[in-house]
Amino acid sequence: MMKKINEAVAFIQQQYSNKPLVGIVLGSGLGSFTSEITVEKEIAYSDIPHFPVSTVEGHSGKLIFGQLGGKTVVAMAGRFHYYEGYSVQEVVFPIRVMKFLGIETLLVSNAAGGSTQAFKVGDLMIIKDHISFFTPNPLVGKNIETLGPRFPDMSEPYKKSLIDKVKAIAAAKNIALQEGVYCGVTGPTFETRAEYKLIHQLGGDAVGMSTVQEVIAAVHMGVPVFAMSVITDIGIRDEENTITHDEVLQAAKDAEPKLTYIFKELVAQL
Ligand code: HPA
Repeated sequence: MMKKINEAVAFIQQQYSNKPLVGIVLGSGLGSFTSEITVEKEIAYSDIPHFPVSTVEGHSGKLIFGQLGGKTVVAMAGRFHYYEGYSVQEVVFPIRVMKFLGIETLLVSNAAGGSTQAFKVGDLMIIKDHISFFTPNPLVGKNIETLGPRFPDMSEPYKKSLIDKVKAIAAAKNIALQEGVYCGVTGPTFETRAEYKLIHQLGGDAVGMSTVQEVIAAVHMGVPVFAMSVITDIGIRDEENTITHDEVLQAAKDAEPKLTYIFKELVAQL
């Protein structure tokens, strides 16, 4: 694994020599955030040794390097999902590569279904904690000590200091935010009514098919994380709860300007 990471890092550093300070993962329908970045280099996933290649609609598949808010950043335009058939180790490979490129903070976004009636479509939810038990843990297997400890502490997977910064940024701009627990699932089916209810009863406020593996890998390596969900559908509602991928992408697009503003300001304050 370390050999693969080192080879990917070496390849990237041949193309782009600045050290990124922040890594950003963009969720479904949230990719146009990259237009905020003064792009210095784009590298297609398909060119990077050992990188998986993204297949899902709404994910374009490249690393974007550049300047944002006075900082050097690397953004993943397109991420890898377990439901695409990648192993969870493949899903987190880019996160590990970004760490060895030098990132000191990881920002993650995703589209998620609301599993509480308190939310409405278009809400932004600060992820304050997660439930990852429904998907395989990317740290299963021989531990790689160079990456982190065998039994990582997960008491604060989402850094409180970053959450506080975002709350202040949003308050100053009158952007309403929700805060809640993200429950990771495998997908690709959206949840049944019974499953949304189960997730709600377990303490999940939102449910989605990404993020938890990436966050586990980052926390393992000691990288502080901030993550935010765009609530693209309300799965828990009792009637008319059919959900389509198009609806998810549209809702994400509509909420994107607010999310973009928050991420941009947060990067500027890091
Ligand atoms: N469930 C799971 N993943 C999702 C959902 C959902 O309702 N909406 C967007 N991603």
